[in-house]
Amino acid sequence: MYPSVYSFSPNPIALALSIPEDGAVLQAVKMAGKHIMRAVQFDSYGGGAAGLKHVEVPVPTPNKDEVLLKLEATAVNPFDWKIQNGVARPFLPRKFPYIPATDVAGEVIGTGSEVKNFKAGDKVVAVLSHLNGGGLAEYDVAKESLTVDRPPEVSAAAGAGLPVAGVTAHHALTKSAGIKLDGSGQQKNILITAASGGVGHYAVQLAKLGNTHVTATCGARNIELVKSLGADEVLDYKTPDGAALRSPSGRKYDAVIHCASAFPWSTFEPNLGANGKVIDLTLLAPVQC
Ligand SMILES: NC(=O)c1ccc[n+]([C@@H]2O[C@H](COP(=O)([O-])OP(=O)(O)OC[C@H]3O[C@@H](n4cnc5c(N)ncnc54)[C@H](OP(=O)(O)O)[C@@H]3O)[C@@H](O)[C@H]2O)c1
Repeated sequence: MYPSVYSFSPNPIALALSIPEDGAVLQAVKMAGKHIMRAVQFDSYGGGAAGLKHVEVPVPTPNKDEVLLKLEATAVNPFDWKIQNGVARPFLPRKFPYIPATDVAGEVIGTGSEVKNFKAGDKVVAVLSHLNGGGLAEYDVAKESLTVDRPPEVSAAAGAGLPVAGVTAHHALTKSAGIKLDGSGQQKNILITAASGGVGHYAVQLAKLGNTHVTATCGARNIELVKSLGADEVLDYKTPDGAALRSPSGRKYDAVIHCASAFPWSTFEPNLGANGKVIDLTLLAPVQC
């Protein structure tokens, strides 16, 4: 059946690309670079969904430090459609046509000559380069250094939702907010906005590994979800206190991990402690892996 079947994963930002089994895996390894695969690509900026085209293109060949993956799931995050809209022109994409999406899970079906840690049959999660994209396809190559094993208890769709969103949350907390995830360090009050979203739900869980008190905002429908992730207090962003980012326990924040849409500084300022900082993740670029 063509085109491929799409289905939503449990992660709100993850879109699973289900590839029908065709028994051609080993043949694809032998024929990488010649064998034809199906993919979705765009060939100019803009155009939204109508600009995405189903195409048939050659299976890529892995370089010496790369693995060839039969993709099982691909996550689409906001930066992918921002690239299509041209927010990073002229740097991204490197060239047209461009196969979008960079967060993938799949099975290793071939390895470059210098790859040491993976072999055919391994189930993995990988992040691809934003320069070249490649996630919305049946096969793609990934750097060995940006590939990790996927344990059996993690589904392909859940694994594909991890890389950019998870690394963004990790960097924001550890490098920008100074949280030590081993629980050492001074206690800090953290606010995480849009805590039910792709980045926010990782940020809550990671923050609670540190010595933190976490206040979170989200929609009313997700309050119990965000509490279950470990947040100490959760605000519905549609209530007056939620819109004002006011901690129910009266805390002032040492750091805000801001994942919701743009707020004026006057909303943050009265809620910050001395030396409090706002780490705004809503700007252009994601963390580069
Ligand atoms: N995803 C990534 O990998 C990534 C990486 C770097 C930067 N970013 C940036 O980070 C931001 C968030 O991305 P995301 O992928 O986490 O978004 P997302 O998965 O689309 O989640 C957005 C969340 O925003 C919540 N929300 C909407 N209005 C809100 C408000 N006024 N206050 C608090 N929460 C509100 C919604 O909550 P309810 O559903 O509960 O209503 C929803 O869960 C975007 O600007 C994105 O460009 C994302």
